Amino acid sequence: MLKIGIINGPNLNMLGKRDQKIYGNLTLEEMNHKIESFAKEEDIELTIKQSNSEGEIIDSIQYFSSQVDGLIINPAAYTHYSYAIADALRDCSIPTIEVHLSDIFSREDFRRKSVTASACTEQIAGFGYQSYILAIYALKDLVKNKQGKK
Ligand code: DQA
Repeated sequence: MLKIGIINGPNLNMLGKRDQKIYGNLTLEEMNHKIESFAKEEDIELTIKQSNSEGEIIDSIQYFSSQVDGLIINPAAYTHYSYAIADALRDCSIPTIEVHLSDIFSREDFRRKSVTASACTEQIAGFGYQSYILAIYALKDLVKNKQGKK
């Protein structure tokens, strides 16, 4: 069974209350429920974490790197300036997809730059919670291809 970990960064626990025009009206719990239902249909074991702290996010990346086959991370605002999270992602050898609910390229200037994306396998942004679903599809393929190479 494919194992996938999801890490959600700061303020994502406030979904539903944050700017709904940008982030939609689902709470984190509702969004996780939709992602979990999809994973179940796909026979994927999913573990989801959320933290508002940089250190805890790094601990989760290090933990997941030996526990799951692929990682999905929404580093939230840390995307734009956390070299520590970028380094942890670089050290993590499993395929990793950076996701964003919003299209970070069509927002404020500071959001257009991701310091973490280049440490990930790929980035998916702008599809709301479906960014996570697309990332699961992508990881399924990435893990399968990697296994094929062995
Ligand atoms: C976000 C985009 C970030 O710029 C922002 O700081 C977030 C959420 C997104 O999912 O669209 O908190 O990562």
